[in-house]
Amino acid sequence: MSIRIGMLTSGGDCQGLNSAMRGVAKRLYEADPKTEILGFLDGFAGLMKNSYRVMGSKDFSGILTLGGTILGTSRQSFKTMETALYPDQPNSPTKLEAMVKNYHDLDLDALVVLGGNGSHKTANLLYENGLNVVTLPKTIDNDLWGTDITFGFQSAVNIATNVIDGIHSTATSHGRVFIVEVMGHKVGWMTLHAGIAGGADVILIPEIPYDPEVVAKVLLKRDKAGKRFSIIAVAEGARTIQEAKMSKSDYNEMIAESPYISVAYRLASMLNQYTDQEVRVTVPGHFQRGGTPSPYDRVLTTSLGVVAAEKVMRKKFGIMVGMVNNKIVGIPLKEVAGKLKEVPQDHELIHDARGIGIYFGNEQI
Ligand code: F6P
Repeated sequence: MSIRIGMLTSGGDCQGLNSAMRGVAKRLYEADPKTEILGFLDGFAGLMKNSYRVMGSKDFSGILTLGGTILGTSRQSFKTMETALYPDQPNSPTKLEAMVKNYHDLDLDALVVLGGNGSHKTANLLYENGLNVVTLPKTIDNDLWGTDITFGFQSAVNIATNVIDGIHSTATSHGRVFIVEVMGHKVGWMTLHAGIAGGADVILIPEIPYDPEVVAKVLLKRDKAGKRFSIIAVAEGARTIQEAKMSKSDYNEMIAESPYISVAYRLASMLNQYTDQEVRVTVPGHFQRGGTPSPYDRVLTTSLGVVAAEKVMRKKFGIMVGMVNNKIVGIPLKEVAGKLKEVPQDHELIHDARGIGIYFGNEQI
């Protein structure tokens, strides 16, 4: 009997989703050309609403370099999984019930989920409810527990680094301070890597709350040393020491009332209070998630896809296929679900960056 699987991409898109699906599909077709693959549309929403495409091997050709996801994606909050799928219908199944039912009605042998943090909680819930789930770790944020790296991360770091590179020349010409806002609300992996790769002078990440006065002192110090420009790489979710002490609701209220649309603009206004150097802001935003996967991500997703397919073939379920110490391995979903991989305060890259004079905004100057 040939294997019949469902596959979906969930949460924010990133580079490498198509190449990862290609890896899974090609390995399965290679083992058995009669393999059946149903592609659920727009992530878990497709599984809930039984919305899918019957895929064929030709659907997975020519997509290695393609950005985004050929299946579409959506964010579906884990917290709502046990609430009614159709709230206005009295006998509506819950979202979880609908997904379990559709999986069984479609007679699937396994479900392959490509997702990030939130999606892994839902994937684990489905596994606990009897579905044969195998997952692959996607996100530009690199914040999934249990894998050293997620796909999309390297490609997005390349883009953010190119932005900082580009800003360098204009910053030098004008002798300005530039703030480049890098994606990452909860973790600073991208900002840390792109900041070091792009030669930023200050790197601000959510894991290390900063003092704007310290950042301003760094700018003055550089100015006095005759450096014509300064570059600050700031993560979307970076907070001042004061903000980090706030309760979640107070912080959210402060953000809602703030006249600044994002952290980089807030920081610029704070810096203007301490320095008369010209400050400019660049926010590449979702551009960081777009376009073709880097060669590294193409190789990574191909290997992850192959191993995920082999897990399905061997009936090894309830696992995420990730990378640990340079090896592609299966990690139990229950160890991954709900855990965030933050940048440790004592991470060697922070040590190395500090070693070459990069500031994180919490130093004594
Ligand atoms: O999780 C990936 C990510 O790009 C984060 O870096 C960012 O904070 C968030 O998604 C943006 O979410 P959305 O695409 O829903 O605006």
